[in-house]
Amino acid sequence: NQASLHFPNGFLWGGATAANQVEGGWDEGGKGMTIQDCLPYREVGVADFTKQFAYSSADLAEALAAGPEANYPKRRAIDFYHHYKEDIALFAEMGFKVLRVSICWSRIYTDPRDPEPNEEGIAFYEDMFRECRKHGIEPLVTLSHYDPPLALVTDYQGWYSREVIGLFVKYARTCFERFGHLVKYWLTFNEVDAMLRHAVTSGGLIEDRFPGKNFDEVIYQAMHHQMVASAQAVKLCHEMVPGLQVGCMMTKLCFYPYSCKPEDNLATQQRMRGVYRYVDIQVFGEYPRYLWKEMEQKGVSIEYRPEDMELLREGTVDFVSFSYYMTSCMAADTEGLDMAPGNTVNGVKNPYLPSSEWGWQTDASGLRYSLVELYDRYRKPLFIVENGLGARDTLEEDGSVHDPYRAAYLEEHVRAMSDAINLDGVDLIGYTWWGCIDLVSESTRQMSKRYGFIYVDMDDYGNGTQKRYKKDSFDYYKQVIESNGTNL
Ligand code: BG6
Repeated sequence: NQASLHFPNGFLWGGATAANQVEGGWDEGGKGMTIQDCLPYREVGVADFTKQFAYSSADLAEALAAGPEANYPKRRAIDFYHHYKEDIALFAEMGFKVLRVSICWSRIYTDPRDPEPNEEGIAFYEDMFRECRKHGIEPLVTLSHYDPPLALVTDYQGWYSREVIGLFVKYARTCFERFGHLVKYWLTFNEVDAMLRHAVTSGGLIEDRFPGKNFDEVIYQAMHHQMVASAQAVKLCHEMVPGLQVGCMMTKLCFYPYSCKPEDNLATQQRMRGVYRYVDIQVFGEYPRYLWKEMEQKGVSIEYRPEDMELLREGTVDFVSFSYYMTSCMAADTEGLDMAPGNTVNGVKNPYLPSSEWGWQTDASGLRYSLVELYDRYRKPLFIVENGLGARDTLEEDGSVHDPYRAAYLEEHVRAMSDAINLDGVDLIGYTWWGCIDLVSESTRQMSKRYGFIYVDMDDYGNGTQKRYKKDSFDYYKQVIESNGTNL
């Protein structure tokens, strides 16, 4: 059954980006380097996308020695750093109520150890937030979206080093102090569960820098530090500027049992606990028992102080936000089954679902399913802060881009949200389409994997004019927002 389309008044429609995927200007405005500036472009096939995540100290040394001809796509991204006014005006034309961006820590503190922030970096974000507000757009800001400052990697041991908590909290304090009057909605760490899948960009952890150590243990320890830092930031924000809202942000992976075999169902349940474990901490304020058991089974033991547990209790989040793109299946025995790639994970291929050109199995019903699961588990307002379709687009000679596939994906997902709100009673406060303007892909570092309603003329090698063009889906999203989701 399907409800008629309806969204609450004030529903926050908009788009989402991240500093490292749009800004560019990697060595401008007093910005320090981040690990993202050191990730090279690699030609990697759709099926073996996880090779992109392999990263060693030798790769880092190569990046630091690289000349301007080397292809480090995040260094240039789409140059939002110089185009933000033009881009925000286009978002406003679509009717955005909210824009998700992230702050690059290394713009605010050139070196995370600096005692004072970099005023040029502060001025950039302040102006960007003012620009949003001028157009009636509420900024939604992530403090850390996969771009740890490089010094954390080279001079510390990434998030494994406990001192990083204090450095992060200093940075968060500066952000609340300087932007608290312009930004109401905050997120601490993007896809907070992701360090277990890609340790470099989430944790600043390069495996070969931990010789003789159990790398799993390194990750769980680093995760613990991030949990404490996040809780401290939430608490601080509430104390400093009452009324601001801080959410957690998770990768809402969704696995269905491949068959009705009890073993497949059990395997799925176990896998889904893996999706929730860290958000459970951020919502309930304590480690779930199953996470302690998981560490025990892996032979991992983490160090913590009694006050950490107190902080976790005090710094619980106000809302739960998440990314959602696709679903896949789980089987106890995957022998002989087809696998499908997804958002940084592989899963068993679902024969009932279509796939994107990158093999992600798109599934609007899975969004409704996920919203219900999350709401029943957490009873907190939900915010979809990433959802979208990465596809190859063609820029026609007349400057048009015909992308009916993107509008179709959007339509199905908007219907699914409406059903979750109106039939299932889910409290959903907003929706930001991922990559509302084309940006550099996180997993493949390609420009050619495009999500935007706005086309950016640039290829995987940085060739192009960087000119912006409206795709057909631009007008479609405008119509969706104008009608508050009722004219699809
Ligand atoms: C999310 C990330 O996992 O997925 C984004 O938060 C990312 O940074 C998005 O871009 C889409 O993934 P990809 O690999 O297609 O860019």
